[in-house]
Amino acid sequence: MTKIEDEIGKRRTFAIISHPDAGKTTLTEKLLLFGGAIQTAGAVKSNKIKNTAASDFMEIEKQRGISVATSVMNFKYKDVLINLLDTPGHKDFAEDTYRTLTAVDSVILVIDCVKGVEEQTEKLMEVCRMRDTPVIVFINKMDREGQNPFDLLDELEEKLNIKVRPLSWPISIGATFKGVYNLYDKSLDLFNPNKTKIEADKLSIKDLNDASLDKKVGEANANQLREDVELIEGVYGEFDNEAYRAGQIAPVFFGSAVNNFGVQELLDTFIRLAPSPKPRKADKRIIEPSEAKFSGFVFKIHANIDPRHRDRIAFLRVCSGKFERNKFFHHVRLNKDFRYSSPATFMAQEKNIIEEAFPGDVIGLYDTGNFKIGDTLTEGEEFMFKGIPSFSPEIFKEVINADPMKSKQLDKGVQQLTEEGVAQLFTQQQGSRKIIGTVGELQFEVIQHRLKHEYGASASFQHLNVYKACWITYDDQAEFDAFAKYREHQLAKDKEGNFVFLADSEWMLNTMIQDFPKLKFHFNSEFKTA
Ligand code: G4P
Repeated sequence: MTKIEDEIGKRRTFAIISHPDAGKTTLTEKLLLFGGAIQTAGAVKSNKIKNTAASDFMEIEKQRGISVATSVMNFKYKDVLINLLDTPGHKDFAEDTYRTLTAVDSVILVIDCVKGVEEQTEKLMEVCRMRDTPVIVFINKMDREGQNPFDLLDELEEKLNIKVRPLSWPISIGATFKGVYNLYDKSLDLFNPNKTKIEADKLSIKDLNDASLDKKVGEANANQLREDVELIEGVYGEFDNEAYRAGQIAPVFFGSAVNNFGVQELLDTFIRLAPSPKPRKADKRIIEPSEAKFSGFVFKIHANIDPRHRDRIAFLRVCSGKFERNKFFHHVRLNKDFRYSSPATFMAQEKNIIEEAFPGDVIGLYDTGNFKIGDTLTEGEEFMFKGIPSFSPEIFKEVINADPMKSKQLDKGVQQLTEEGVAQLFTQQQGSRKIIGTVGELQFEVIQHRLKHEYGASASFQHLNVYKACWITYDDQAEFDAFAKYREHQLAKDKEGNFVFLADSEWMLNTMIQDFPKLKFHFNSEFKTA
């Protein structure tokens, strides 16, 4: 094995996703404790914004120090190098989460056993399925009186449109929860509820008929477990790791993150099952991670909130070869070569300058405005990585310049903020009418605040009645011209110059789809990668 193959084999790059409050932050913290990356509980700050005001958001950003401190957490667990990518806890920043999902090789999805599959979970899974990202499900809060585990599995299959296969099984639930049986290793692990320490009270029982099981969990629980396991083995069949890696089946674990129930089982199994960095699609060919030459793409840009420092940090996922500090790399879109003297990784409050990075790693590059989301760096070859989707925003507003003397600043600010991916920008009338689309209201407050403090521009926003943005492609110019004439006021361009139809109702959208059959309407920008 070459050095690079060895490095790739050791890496697991993933994200934890969940509907807010299901336990993502808690599970992250426990994984970091197991990985020895932090020593005490409470070290990971929640990135939830309980109160939806821009000032709170800014405050949280400031408190998080360089504000990217917890964006990528890397730690070593049993010789495996784990890169855990953080995703925002607030639903208004869902778009940021979708982009982060393009940079991982697998995800762990956290479900609250009381609430089951929630709205945000469905949306996030949709994004995972678009790219066949392997998913492991962790059903959390088993210390609460949740739903029956079999019902939960049915709900997962139905609502998330994916087959599931339990790999651990809970013994009782709620106040009488005893622990989990690991179906993969055929061993039983019992735990003491323990919120601060990570040592578990483990007991390995290879044979479920062993009488010591009855002693440990009580006869009734032991019998129930035997019955459940028989049913599971019968109904779900053998676990197929290839099907998991192809994104077709999701292994399921049960536990309670806050009590350390089932977390280590999850982590131990995760490092064995989850894929190491995979090949990636670029517009010209597929890039294998083990290729000698470096390549990577930017999936996230984080502005420095401090207005005195305009620099930003671009997060780059290494896809092939070896990234090296101070070596010149090719910025494909700009057709220019750049080198980076202080590429960094971030862990808790620490920032470390790195000399080299391998596929699966995520590095922060200081940027003075050269990067846009989706940009590719290579060792000279001309290709761009594909698959950073934009979805239709939910709220659309026109940007109104409140200070005509500052229109240049406003244009620049809007341009740069949307390049960072804070919001999507659509333009009409050769760019003179600007429409911003976001997932939530919070972004508008953030944009307004940042335009004022970082660019000295003031803007207000006028709400537009738009139901959905749809990307349009066509082969028939005459049909498009007819459509463009008829719907001129609802046609805009996105940042790449693609045509976007801003439909004001579902009815209107369906009517247009029917009336203009030669146009193709796409519900996300991923069509470019089809
Ligand atoms: P999130 O990042 O997905 O939004 O969720 P987070 O981890 O912040 O957890 C949400 C709430 O659920 C927290 O309570 C957390 O303590 C609790 N929680 C997490 N795992 C479990 C579990 O296994 N069992 C139970 N019963 N609760 C769990 P909180 O009251 O919002 O915050 P805190 O004051 O406890 O920190």
